[in-house]
Amino acid sequence: MLTDTFGRMHTYLRISLTERCNLRCLYCMPEEGVDLTPGRQLLSTEEVMRVARLFVAGGVDKIRLTGGEPTLRPDLVELTGQLSQLPGMRAVGITSNGLTLGRKLAALKDAGLSLLNISLDTLQPERFVQMTRRQGHDRVLASIQQAVALGYDPGACTIAGRLLKVNVVVMRGVNEDEVPAFVELTRGAPINVRFIEYMPFDGNVWSEPKLAPYGDMLAAVQARFGELERCDDPRGEVAKNFRVPGFRGTVSFITSMTKAFCSDCNRLRVMADGNLKVCLFGANEVSLREAMREGATDDDLRAIVSAAVDRKRAAHAGMFELAGAKNRAMVKIGG
Ligand code: GTP
Ligand code: 5AD
Ligand code: SF4
Repeated sequence: MLTDTFGRMHTYLRISLTERCNLRCLYCMPEEGVDLTPGRQLLSTEEVMRVARLFVAGGVDKIRLTGGEPTLRPDLVELTGQLSQLPGMRAVGITSNGLTLGRKLAALKDAGLSLLNISLDTLQPERFVQMTRRQGHDRVLASIQQAVALGYDPGACTIAGRLLKVNVVVMRGVNEDEVPAFVELTRGAPINVRFIEYMPFDGNVWSEPKLAPYGDMLAAVQARFGELERCDDPRGEVAKNFRVPGFRGTVSFITSMTKAFCSDCNRLRVMADGNLKVCLFGANEVSLREAMREGATDDDLRAIVSAAVDRKRAAHAGMFELAGAKNRAMVKIGG
């Protein structure tokens, strides 16, 4: 059911739990926010679990809960616990902006959370306000520290134990000057900092001049820190992994725009409204919520998923076609 026509096995499911967010990042959505799907059209806890069971039975062994901001969903800890208990699950993760994560982190760890990605685009408090259009820089930093204290670490570029990654979306002319400062953080801290190329989505006014390409970022890091050590890139990972020799943490690049990694893609997405999306960059979606609420059996759902996976294309259309393509706002996809 989860192997596509190009032989790609989909073992990683991203489930977005909410379209709501307590930040308004420049690269994610317009200042006024986006129209939210009415609550009754969002998947319930039971529906999320039904979908998850179906995918896990089909071979998924890693699930990441996203948003919007997943900590705004009241059943996050409960879902993390239930998902972690599913037979065959290897890892359950979340991607959070860290703002209100601190309150839930210990409970999430106890529930079995093993993968924790926190977004932080700047080390400068005033710039945080400019980039997220909200306050809260100190709370995000505190969440990262708390995660380290709870034993989340960057591992050896493998899934084992509890991993911590810090996501930095780099925008030219906004925060690209901070790349070396983020690398400096990895000198003493067991953190994996990932620099992400800015991608186009509905309402985020992407343009090529605002993209800081991988090549430029790598050159800036090498100019300051010398040649980097190359780490393994586990199969299906979106990041190219490096380490500054002798540093405790690691540095990675997510090169969606300049070096696509579609041939290795192992991801599927179910969004908060129950739509299945087989590619981050595609308007082609199918509603699992509607099927479930119309009484679909698990066999019916498997047929719907299988047909959607079969429609998955070999690769996305390239930088310039993506910029004009119809999609959702990022906050409604979940990354
Ligand atoms: P790991 O489990 O640690 O590999 O996390 P992740 O990188 O899958 O998830 P995260 O939510 O931290 O996303 C980091 C960045 O990768 C975000 O900018 C995502 O939009 C981007 N990303 C995630 N999946 C895909 C994908 O399938 N294609 C592309 N091009 N980018 C992706
Ligand atoms: N381009 C690249 N990454 C993005 N993210 C959100 N919007 C974009 C974008 N336009 C990142 C967030 C978060 C992850 C889920 O996706 O910063 O870390
Ligand atoms: Fe919220 Fe994440 Fe979008 Fe920022 S990138 S507005 S934190 S969903």
